[in-house]
Amino acid sequence: MIENEFEYDFENRISAPEFTPADEEIENSLRPTRLNEYIGQEKVKENLSIYIKAARLRGEPLDHVLLYGPPGLGKTTLSGIIANEMGVNIRITSGPAIEKQGDLVAILSNLEQGDILFIDEIHRLNRNVEEILYPAMEDGKIDIIIGKGPSARSYQLSLPRFTLVGATTRAGQLSAPLRDRFGVIFRLEMYNADELCEIVKRSSKILDIPIDTDGAYQIASRSRGTPRIANRLLKRSRDFAEVKYQGVITSEAAQAALGSMEIDELGLDAVDRRLLQTMIKSYNGGPVGLETISAAIGEESVTIEDVYEPYLMQIGFLARTPRGRIVTPLGYEHLGIAFDTKNNGQQTFDL
Ligand code: ADE
Repeated sequence: MIENEFEYDFENRISAPEFTPADEEIENSLRPTRLNEYIGQEKVKENLSIYIKAARLRGEPLDHVLLYGPPGLGKTTLSGIIANEMGVNIRITSGPAIEKQGDLVAILSNLEQGDILFIDEIHRLNRNVEEILYPAMEDGKIDIIIGKGPSARSYQLSLPRFTLVGATTRAGQLSAPLRDRFGVIFRLEMYNADELCEIVKRSSKILDIPIDTDGAYQIASRSRGTPRIANRLLKRSRDFAEVKYQGVITSEAAQAALGSMEIDELGLDAVDRRLLQTMIKSYNGGPVGLETISAAIGEESVTIEDVYEPYLMQIGFLARTPRGRIVTPLGYEHLGIAFDTKNNGQQTFDL
């Protein structure tokens, strides 16, 4: 295990977009259940509503759907909405939870006609299990082998027609045969501040937390384009508002809460800043390889790729080049470090 030189508590990072058990209660109460309540992802909503209407008109299940994009953007929420709009049941599971072929066979054979099977982190399904899915998705059949050796027998089981909704942070890691069996593929984008502001206002209404527009905007603009983070920051801001700001989340209350969590005006937290600072301080701002960054800050490379980089790239602070990652001049500027073009951004003063 690599030592974490900064002794940062990665597990409890409030701006980590991954789902944590603490999110469960709040997310369940805040999840929109119908397409018209879902804010943002306009293109996805527009297309999805057409596909859903068409499938309903034909009285058929929806084609298999793959949702991909960074964590916390609403893939699970969207799958629940698809089920509601189609008027069918949803069964929720995840790639790592399905260990054996038999686990998947049990799930599939318990589905009813038209049901949705949602598999989160579908890129983590093991190959053995994945092979069961191919014929199941394609012609609603599964081949099972019972017994071992010479007495083994192969049986074919017919399934009710169902819709698989797969979610992944990394579509590129899906095997080609699996990817090719999805008729509909949507990439979810990070939300802009206006959309997040609407989401924060909607959530505060449901949670009965008074908030003004400036307060909502403060939270929205610091949530790294991610509703899950916005809803978490909303909860923390409520604490500040109740104790120090007469129970209303004003801009000051939100700023006090966010400042206490070391979240800056663009939503970067201590880890993001460390990552950029390390790249600048130790590697002249790059190009530097992912594995090197991972060892230097003590965080797994997949987490850096899936969790930190998407937002840093979105705001233009980090770029990928064939030779590795670089911190951009904008990134330098945000950290208050001079960018020296002659030396690929070598720092001109100590951090
Ligand atoms: N809560 C979380 N994500 C949401 C979204 N996209 N729209 C409305 N509420 C949400």
